[in-house]
Amino acid sequence: MEGEKIITSLLSEKRIFEPPKSVSERAWIKSMDQYKEMWEESIRNPEKFWSRFLDILEWFKKPTKIWDDSKFPPTAQWFVDGKLNASYNALDKHINSGKGDKVAIYWEGDNPTESRAITYTQLLEEVCKFGNVLLKYGLKRGDRVAIWLPMIPELVIAMLACARFGIVHSVVFAGFSAEAVKDRILDSSARMLITSDGTFRAGKKIPLKVKVHDLLEETPTIEHVIVVKRTGIDTPMKVGRDTWWYDELKDQPTECSYEEMNAEDPLFILYTSGTTGKPKGIVHTTAGYLMYAALTHKFVFDIHDDTVFFCSADIGWITGHSYIVYGPLVNGATEVMFEGVPSYPSFERYWEIIEKYKVNVFYTAPTAIRLLMKEGDALPKKHDLSSLRILGSVGEPINPEAWIWYHKVIGNERCPIVDTWWQTETGGILLTPLPGATSLKPGSVTFPFFGVKPEVLRDDGTLAAPNEGGHLVITSAWPGMLRGVWQNPQRFQKTYWAKFPGKYYSGDGAKIDEDGYIWILGRLDDVIKVSGHRIGTMEVESALVSHPAVAEAAVVPMAHKIKGQAIYAYVILNKNFSPSQELINELKQHVRKEIGPIATPEAIEFAPDLPKTRSGKIMRRILKAIVNEVDVGNITTLANPKVVKALWNAHKTAKSSSSH
Ligand code: WT7
Repeated sequence: MEGEKIITSLLSEKRIFEPPKSVSERAWIKSMDQYKEMWEESIRNPEKFWSRFLDILEWFKKPTKIWDDSKFPPTAQWFVDGKLNASYNALDKHINSGKGDKVAIYWEGDNPTESRAITYTQLLEEVCKFGNVLLKYGLKRGDRVAIWLPMIPELVIAMLACARFGIVHSVVFAGFSAEAVKDRILDSSARMLITSDGTFRAGKKIPLKVKVHDLLEETPTIEHVIVVKRTGIDTPMKVGRDTWWYDELKDQPTECSYEEMNAEDPLFILYTSGTTGKPKGIVHTTAGYLMYAALTHKFVFDIHDDTVFFCSADIGWITGHSYIVYGPLVNGATEVMFEGVPSYPSFERYWEIIEKYKVNVFYTAPTAIRLLMKEGDALPKKHDLSSLRILGSVGEPINPEAWIWYHKVIGNERCPIVDTWWQTETGGILLTPLPGATSLKPGSVTFPFFGVKPEVLRDDGTLAAPNEGGHLVITSAWPGMLRGVWQNPQRFQKTYWAKFPGKYYSGDGAKIDEDGYIWILGRLDDVIKVSGHRIGTMEVESALVSHPAVAEAAVVPMAHKIKGQAIYAYVILNKNFSPSQELINELKQHVRKEIGPIATPEAIEFAPDLPKTRSGKIMRRILKAIVNEVDVGNITTLANPKVVKALWNAHKTAKSSSSH
């Protein structure tokens, strides 16, 4: 296990943190005994277990068949004959039960002077106005709509308006490039794009629409583009195709209909990176996804009617889909939605927000915790964080040092930390503590959520021994699991179900300790987690190779103090090109343009040659070892073993010349 070396060296914290009484007393799940009993039932008798929670959703037709596992693995169907609507569950349901005036979203702008409180009634009105626009343009059940918007309320409105009519949304993170938007539009044959003139980030205006404008000539399925005016940046509009959000909405009625969707109708597609090829469109369906997002949100974050919840993720990722849009709104919670970054106007921004809205549950990523930890304890201590009850972490392994800081300085030793493991594919949290029940070990994701049965396997498919690293797989079916890869059943089968036939393959390494606690060791495939963002090495390599100077490229993760992992790229130049700092900058720019700023290599090293097997396969394992300065292991199978020494020396020289 390559990841293991890194993790075990950090395992200095041996203390166990019991759930605080004040949390347990009020919690939905109050004790380990209660958890165990429920978990066992969820595995032994899924029908019985899930039928007990049907009422977390409102159904037009209550399902009589809880699940159909006749085609599982890979595909189980959930709440099969039920009928419902996701948008109705997120909005109308609460208004009908008298909660219309409750704040659904406290929206906090990049600039602290800008904020909005949006009630459930107001949100529904906006969703209806936009829903009427979708109908006006002839969009209908099953069509796809691409959404490339920053963290503004219009993003939530657009998603819920699509969901109202069974229109499948495909949200693209605003930090991705226009090229990435184009690829996703083509793959999903989207009929409409919803975007904005630009976005604010740390006080700066960043254009969006203008960047994709010309590329839309290459996306024949796009019939219409709706543009939110956010920044006032000069924006080209194609007559007959592009219109402004505000103009479209201003005369629309605040009421609209909705579709009664089947349980298994797709709700959205979200693209994510894998080991091979372009990002794949992960498909989630209506009932199973919604049930799972809502129930995990309620139990993992212990949501009650008065809870204020703040998830700092971007809706462009699955965390935002499940724990900003669907989970919290279906549960009728009040949440904070934040447009900006933790460092603007100062590193106190998150603490200001928590104080301002009296946030009870704060859910963020280890990379943000490390960034803020570096700024010292004085900044959070200036703020009243006493409203906090539970803290959450997601996206990458949290190192015990960051865990302890989060617990002590932010949580004042009162707040359990729920370190939640899951993936775009899983729809919701799979491995997690429950705040009122689970004793915590810093750095461990502890135990499975209801319905989830994990295993750690050796390469040969046998069970790993306690504390032995292996492949994390899931052997049960759960409602939120992906139903497929958009228009690519072979890839679905091959990526997730082939390595260990019939078991869901996560791509992560893990181990289970002598007490049954699960520890995530990081990705075992060619996926890098940069600041918790998922990036495929293949995509970065393809981007590099598409530049005329580059003959060959190999990309590996490099350990990084704040980002967790950063991208390190080895590049072999074509003849007629020579190494230079300018070329490095140009290549970085090129990757930004092709994929987006988050994929920018931290370092680019020009190499004369790369370690390869006799069949010509690049041995990224060896490059990863060199970059992270660990033992390269066995190199006897290489066609060119000498290159390893040369790359070691080059790495050391480069390092000593860059440190002063
Ligand atoms: C990958 C999935 C889940 C929402 C955000 C990421 C890593 C996720 C943890 C955690 C260690 C984690 C895994 C996983 N990951 N949560 N608590 N501890 N690693 O979704 O972009 O699909 O990435 O994120 O490597 O496979 P994603």
